[in-house]
Amino acid sequence: MNTIHSEYALGGSKHEYARLIRQAEFLKPMTRRVFQDAGIRPGMRVLDVGSGVGDVCMLLSEMVGPTGNVIGLEQDAGAVKFAEERMCAGRFRNILFVLSEFSQYVPDAPPDAVVGRSVLLYQADPATALAKVANHLRPGGIVAFMEPWLMPPQGPDSPTKRIVSCIVETLRRSGVQIDLGPRLHKVFASAGLPHPNMRFEAVMDSQDESPLYELVADSFVSLLPKAIEYGIAAPGEFDAGSIPGQLRGAMNAVGYAAMLLPTVSAWCRTAQA
Ligand SMILES: C[S@@+](CC[C@H](N)C(=O)[O-])C[C@H]1O[C@@H](n2cnc3c(N)ncnc32)[C@H](O)[C@@H]1O
Repeated sequence: MNTIHSEYALGGSKHEYARLIRQAEFLKPMTRRVFQDAGIRPGMRVLDVGSGVGDVCMLLSEMVGPTGNVIGLEQDAGAVKFAEERMCAGRFRNILFVLSEFSQYVPDAPPDAVVGRSVLLYQADPATALAKVANHLRPGGIVAFMEPWLMPPQGPDSPTKRIVSCIVETLRRSGVQIDLGPRLHKVFASAGLPHPNMRFEAVMDSQDESPLYELVADSFVSLLPKAIEYGIAAPGEFDAGSIPGQLRGAMNAVGYAAMLLPTVSAWCRTAQA
């Protein structure tokens, strides 16, 4: 059986929200660089699609400053509630979270920029979804997206290869477009957007005891119920607590640094009126 399913595979649990926050800390410097290079500036009005628990919105809030504002669009009510609580606790005054499937949202005023991180790969038709949301932009507006490139592992069979294969295969069977990153320019073209600038980057950590191994293990734990449901993993096959150590041992054995989320970014400006 190789059926493709369609709901958000990582789910909406407290565990998943906490994982997104920890992951976002590592992705923050690369995300800031992409938004900076794309032209996000103080005073802008920015739509963040698939805002999750709010980390991209909070970064944008700093970048656009008190004269700008950020709207986060998210379809998971639990994530929106959690993001709002974090926003109040952090005293962010220029963010509005909206519970909405992003391609259905119609803004009150044209935004200066539409951005998203790790969201287009979850869409059944990323180009159509992107075209709908980019259509709201003012002339000369910014489009900037960052999408992971989830590569199936190579090399001989090993416990590590099995773990990474389970993650990638479970996402693929959930309808996630695992190689959307390197195809982002085609998605932009199909959405009627200009050729984007593109960048490929990953977070790497040179410490042997890198916390990135725990994060990979956390993704696996979020996905495990789906992996079992799809018959990719057997109940009781994995001991979640030992996964970070296994990953750490395998990377140290070949002398590689820890790596997280190879990510492709693409950004452009729409035509001036
Ligand atoms: C991997 S999370 C990324 C969250 C956030 N962008 C970040 O990088 O921290 C993807 C989020 O996109 C949301 N999402 C996926 N498709 C969506 C859609 N069509 N409309 C609104 N939200 C969507 C999911 O519910 C999930 O919260």
